[in-house]
Formats: sequence, structure tokens, C-alpha cells
Amino acid sequence: MHTHNLLELNSNENSLGMSDSAKQAILDSLDIGFRYPDDQRAALISKIAEINGVTESQVSLGNGSSENIRAVVQMLQTKALKDGNQFQVVVPDPTFAYAELYALSLGESVVKVPLTAENYDLDFDNLQKAADEFDGISLFYLCNPNNPTATITATHKLKAWINNAPANHYFLLDQAYSEYITDPSFESGVEWIKQELSANLVVIRTFSKLCALAAMRIGYAIASPQTTASIEAFMSIDNTNLSGAVAVLATLDDEEFLAHSLRTTNQSRQMIEETLGELGLRYLPSQANFIFHEVTGDVKTYIDRMREHGIVVGREFPPIEGFSRLTLGTPDEMAVFIKVLKLFREKGWV
Ligand SMILES: Cc1ncc(COP(=O)(O)O)c(C=O)c1O
Repeated sequence: MHTHNLLELNSNENSLGMSDSAKQAILDSLDIGFRYPDDQRAALISKIAEINGVTESQVSLGNGSSENIRAVVQMLQTKALKDGNQFQVVVPDPTFAYAELYALSLGESVVKVPLTAENYDLDFDNLQKAADEFDGISLFYLCNPNNPTATITATHKLKAWINNAPANHYFLLDQAYSEYITDPSFESGVEWIKQELSANLVVIRTFSKLCALAAMRIGYAIASPQTTASIEAFMSIDNTNLSGAVAVLATLDDEEFLAHSLRTTNQSRQMIEETLGELGLRYLPSQANFIFHEVTGDVKTYIDRMREHGIVVGREFPPIEGFSRLTLGTPDEMAVFIKVLKLFREKGWV
């Protein structure tokens, strides 16, 4: 829900706004709005295959990557049912909730494994244990960088885990924020799909973040051709709308905008890190367009007070206490946030 006159820094949107090229592409497409967007959909699949270095048969377009998450959950549930197996979803806690929500709505069980207490990393042993102890198909939903922590998982550990997993363990790697990663040790799961490291690996990505097209609802999954075909069976047919397709195509060709988008977020991150450092508030190393930082005292009170000062942050992310998630908006928006945060310090609230 969007609230007017409030500074919304709570949904990890890109408040730079859509590129002018995307807006123009949408306007230019209105005259063909009465036709089915077969050509634009095909062009988009081809472009996504090209930028990821995979074949078109490895791309599944989603109405936002949220739809891809749902399709993967449904595909595996159906596969398990057919084989007379049980199915469960295993997630770190906290993480982005959609895999869990879809599994629950399908009547499946979800195991939530808390992040480690020291660094809020994935707890590999307990995640794996949850699947090892289960007789059936397990799907690990792993967000890298994770939401809400904005941190990445150690590449060598993740890669080894996926590489050595048994045939009934599946991995959905959500790379919604991977364009923001600066850590040189990061490897995209797409590379592992190309290396045929695992047939049980699906990577999803989205145009909602760096490309600033959240409302256009375009995301995608990459997997082996066989896995992609089985996921496609659970996708809405013709799920791509014309505006979304042309907006993404225009944005992907707009290198200047993409560079500007990344620079803007980096600048905002630097401003916030500086402020948090100055105030002595701990933060996790952000590899995304948001940052997870300490607030002293009760997070709910902090969120309420921020809202009273015109800024929407948060929400709460149990079981973690004492941390708030802040979306990195534009530098101007960050300046407003910083002013309020410093006022909170004066009042002794943080
Ligand atoms: C980790 C993660 N995955 C997926 C999404 C949803 O993206 P989309 O707009 O592509 O459905 C979000 C949105 O915030 C997210 O944080």
C-alpha cells in the first residue's frame, strides 16, 4: 500500500524512477496495445538469454519474479505428489517471505532455520539437517544477497553445497539484488547452471530493482532446459504485458541509466554508512539497495516514530531484534532520513 506524503523507504523500490527511455518505449507501444505481445515477449526472452549467456529454452518469464517463485514451488509439489513423495520448503529466517507463503497456501510445510546469531549468515548445517531428516523433496529458497540483511552467502560454501546435494534437494536462488553486489568473491548461480553443476538449481532475477520497473512486473527464472520446461508448465500462459516488455527492453539498452542507477544507490549507501558509523550504530555490509542496521531499543517504536516524522522504514524481521531495514533511496531522500535519524539521537531514541 502506498501512502501519500510519506517518504517510502520500506519496499526496496528504486526511487530514482523509471528511465526516460522506458517511459518513451511504453508511450510508443500504445498504438499496438490491442495486439497480443508475442513479438515483444519473444524479443525479451532472446535479450535475457543473451545477457545471461544461456539459451532461450533456459528462460522462463514471470509476472515479476514472484510468479517464478510460485511456479517453482508448485512444480516441485506436483512432482512430489506424482512420485508419492512428501514436499517441504526450507528457508533461512528471516528471508523474503513469498516462497514460504506460496508453500503454506498449497498446504505444504515450511521449515524456518534462523540465521546465525553472530553475523546473520545462513546456518548451513541446520538448513541441510532439515532436509536430511525429511523423507521427500526439499526446496531450499535462498536469497543472495539475502533480504532483509543485504549480505551475501560465502560463494565457495554455497557452490559446494549445491554441487554435493542429493537428487531430492532443490535450490531456488533468488538474485533479485545481485546487480548491486560489489564483493569480488560473488559468483552468480547462472554460471553454475551453465556449468551444469546441478539439474536441481533455479536462479531468479527481476527488473524491479536496478531497472526501477517494479510496477511493470517482469522477472525471470533461469535453469536447465528440462527444468525450465517443467517450470513453464506452471506459469500463466502469455503472462508478459506489452508495457513491461518494452520498458525492460528499453532499459536494458540504456547503459547510461543503468550506470546512473547503480551510482545513485552506491552514493546513498555511502551516505548512510557514514552516518551510521558516526552514530556508532552497527550495520551489516550491504550488497543490495537496502541496508540492515542497528537501532537501539525497540524496533517497533523506532518504526512508529519514523512514520510520525514522515518516513516509512522497516518492517520488523523476527526473530532478529534491534535491527531495521532501510531502503537506499535517492541521495536527497537519504539526506532527509539522516536529518531525522540525527534528531532521534538528540532525543536519545537511537
Ligand atoms: C528477494 C526478493 N525476491 C523477489 C522480490 C519480488 O520481486 P518482483 O517484483 O520481481 O516480483 C523481492 C521484492 O522485494 C525481493 O526482495
